[in-house]
Amino acid sequence: MSFLSATLSRVKPSPTMAVTQKASELKAAGRDVIGLGAGEPDFDTPQSIKDAAVRAIAEGKTKYTTVDGIPELKQAICDKFKRDNGLDYTPAQVTVNSGGKHTLYNALMATLNPGDEVIIPAPYWVSYPDMVLLAGGTPIVVEASLETRFKLTPEQLEAAITEKTKWFIFNSPSNPTGAGYSHAELKALTEVLMRHPHVWVMTDDMYEHLAYDDFKFATPAEVEPQLYERTLTCNGVSKAYAMTGWRIGYAAGPAPLIAAMRKVQSQSTSNPCSISQYAALAALTGPQDFLATHNEIFVRRRNLVVSMLSEIDGITCPVPEGAFYVYPSIAGLIGKTTPAGTRITDDETFATALLEEANVAVVFGAAFGLSPNFRVSYATADETLKEACSRIQHFCAALR
Ligand SMILES: Cc1ncc(COP(=O)(O)O)c(C=O)c1O
Repeated sequence: MSFLSATLSRVKPSPTMAVTQKASELKAAGRDVIGLGAGEPDFDTPQSIKDAAVRAIAEGKTKYTTVDGIPELKQAICDKFKRDNGLDYTPAQVTVNSGGKHTLYNALMATLNPGDEVIIPAPYWVSYPDMVLLAGGTPIVVEASLETRFKLTPEQLEAAITEKTKWFIFNSPSNPTGAGYSHAELKALTEVLMRHPHVWVMTDDMYEHLAYDDFKFATPAEVEPQLYERTLTCNGVSKAYAMTGWRIGYAAGPAPLIAAMRKVQSQSTSNPCSISQYAALAALTGPQDFLATHNEIFVRRRNLVVSMLSEIDGITCPVPEGAFYVYPSIAGLIGKTTPAGTRITDDETFATALLEEANVAVVFGAAFGLSPNFRVSYATADETLKEACSRIQHFCAALR
């Protein structure tokens, strides 16, 4: 019998982290590689947040805290939900965890039994299906197509629901597509959920503040207040506040679910880092002006990348509403051959050849459950993006 657990054998390591690592290895070996794989802002954490962390250290806030968050931070999270989303929560309905990933993991561990199904629209953030598997559930992946700009239709959601469905995982703006559901599009999905009272909603609002042009962010419990009793609204400071390394995520939902998540956390990681909690408190209660400044930069980069990739014959690149990703289709390049003799049979061979022959690292679409596409993260300097897109243009132009 294997020493490792059988559950673990069903789970794969994160492909996005694998691409980032491969790009770093090639760079370290002297290759001029541009990595467009990483899912984090290139901005530094704002100074006011760093100062709050330094103060916390100086004041000795360096001990264990209550398991799922200091009271001040929980209150700040309640205030944030009221301010941004019109949602009323009390601190007993709030949990603070070691990153947004940990929040989702706690929720799945606290609720899934063997046979429970979790509906996951594809393209999905890579961790959803594997976390469901780790927690003993069954991921039910439903593919949203390029034609609907990567958004699940109400008919698809309806068809995927069975009596075993426990959760519907919703993510807008999305990683990996950047697609954001409008209020009306989300309402159409919540109408389906209203017909199935046993289905709960886990909404991952991590990219809430990264929304562009006239797109207005909406979250399920706000769009359909009757879903409040069966919605876990998840968020975090990682992306909006450029705090990926600090590891703070949070969620609000029905108190019994929050208590169950606390139990999981109490027997695994205990409290999130005390210093990071004070930093997150400063992020949520301090100045928010840099959000708009960052978004101006992100919009400019998104437009640059979409326009340069759209010039390529064989690539279709929709303009996303948010996050910092684009998810172009390479359907028109399948079957072609690179100058080095590699045949592009799918998005994985495309991404591998692009790295080997043009020194650009992107993540292939199969990793996110929808092919043939690739994900570009544009959270990097304009000049670097220009150079990377120009390399992709030359690489594609040389295909025969
Ligand atoms: C959609 C989505 N949810 C959650 C996370 C996890 O965020 P954190 O770094 O806070 O764990 C990410 C990070 O890539 C993400 O893209």
